[in-house]
Amino acid sequence: MSSNPTQHDAWKNLTEHAQNIQKTPVKSLFEADINRFDQFSTNHDSLFFDYSKQLITKEILDDLVTLAQECGLKEKRKALFSGDKINKTEGRSVLHTALREPKGSSLNVNGQNVSDDIHSTLNVMKDISDKVRSGKYLGSTGKPVTKIISIGIGGSDFGPRLICNALKDNIKDIKLDFVSNIDASDITHALGKSEPEKTLFIVISKSFTTNDTLINAGTAKKWLESQLPENSDISKQFIAVTTNATAARTFGVSDHNILPMWEWVNGRFSLWSAVGLPICLRFGFNVFQELLNGAYSIDKHFQEAPLDENIPVLMALIGIWNRNFLQSQTLAILPYSQRLFYLPAYLRQLDMESNGKTIDLEGNQIIDYQTGPVIFGEAGTNGQHSFYQHLHQGSDLMASDFIGILNPDHDYDEHQSCLMNNMLAQSQALMQGRQNPDSPHRYFEGNKPNSTILLEKLDAKHLGMLIALYEHKIFVQGAIWNINSFDQYGVELGKELSKKLVENDLSDADSSTKGLLSLIHKVKK
Ligand code: F6P
Repeated sequence: MSSNPTQHDAWKNLTEHAQNIQKTPVKSLFEADINRFDQFSTNHDSLFFDYSKQLITKEILDDLVTLAQECGLKEKRKALFSGDKINKTEGRSVLHTALREPKGSSLNVNGQNVSDDIHSTLNVMKDISDKVRSGKYLGSTGKPVTKIISIGIGGSDFGPRLICNALKDNIKDIKLDFVSNIDASDITHALGKSEPEKTLFIVISKSFTTNDTLINAGTAKKWLESQLPENSDISKQFIAVTTNATAARTFGVSDHNILPMWEWVNGRFSLWSAVGLPICLRFGFNVFQELLNGAYSIDKHFQEAPLDENIPVLMALIGIWNRNFLQSQTLAILPYSQRLFYLPAYLRQLDMESNGKTIDLEGNQIIDYQTGPVIFGEAGTNGQHSFYQHLHQGSDLMASDFIGILNPDHDYDEHQSCLMNNMLAQSQALMQGRQNPDSPHRYFEGNKPNSTILLEKLDAKHLGMLIALYEHKIFVQGAIWNINSFDQYGVELGKELSKKLVENDLSDADSSTKGLLSLIHKVKK
């Protein structure tokens, strides 16, 4: 079996389909088949997926499914869930799915039952959040903690930030800020709103070597030292989440306040681990458990549903069709929910850090097909007044995912109906276009690929489902493109060079870098 997807018969068939269908209006496919919506939509556990506005037919879908089979998707999926070391470049298992498994399941990695580790960590998360939320977690001067500042970046930030912004239930009087940027304005803004005696810092860093996080954590420590009475035990006000307990200890976090992560959880897939502690503190452990349950429901669906009814598989195959056969380079994430404001940023890291790669699993440069798309997006309707012009009339074919919430958390019916109508109108306009306008400037080509996901409501369970869908979509695409979706060597070169610049080592610097640096240094003086 060739590992290059273009060598498979299905790929060749799909190339032919693309040539034949490219000029066919999707609108005409709807006119020809009154059952198109039913045929090209499906649901799982109160999550609905409509992909009927994509430029696909039954034959194309069948060939896409065959491509997945020819690329060994079923075997690769089994390897993922069994804990095989599918992150080959780093020699690691990839087990974010194990984090969602109910108590009692058992999975061994290197002779260790990871389930036990996972559930004992969940217990610790529950204890800490119960304590904080009941006012029993005391800072170094004996006052209850009422403010949390979560310090982390990338996968150690986006997940809890997304969920904490999206959920509304059950919030106690605990305030929460996220600090990620090494730009001091981020942490000084958070500190400025906080009382030193009542603030608990959670330092989240899988490696505990990320400069952005360590410098921010160091500033937090100095702030506490300067604000609290001399000899205060400030370690009470730090919790660390990391695989690197030694570094966390050296920083000054007490052993009982260090929560583990594991090398088999990739940063951008780590929301389900102790990285989710801010969610527990803000909403209670039960809400976090619901998030895990939602993701677990999708894990089961992904493992068990036939490929042509399997939502993450369908999302992935449609993405491959758009990217590799219709030459769309982008995917816009368009949640029609202000509470999903951070979803495009979250999915941007998840997708682009996973599949933004051009070296295949055998170490060869990929030259004959494209991999991950550029992900961007914005909450509707704000996006409509920003970049939708380009979606409709720009010279690039841009694919979109619309996400709508059926039952809002408010009673403003006019807002909800206007929001949903806008979402549907945009999706319809992208597909139908306008072919006979009274002016050429009003011409819309149509056939802009888009799908719609509807969630019954925006609670923790549905958020868990939504995120797990995209995780598996990304996995399936990586499996077909024959790349390792679970390393991120692409972020390393910049880190290495910045370290050299900090050390004033200009041996690799070009004249532009040197010139700019001298301007920066002049200002410092
Ligand atoms: O941006 C690169 C990256 O390695 C991400 O993959 C990761 O989520 C982030 O940095 C933070 O890393 P850490 O959790 O080790 O601080």
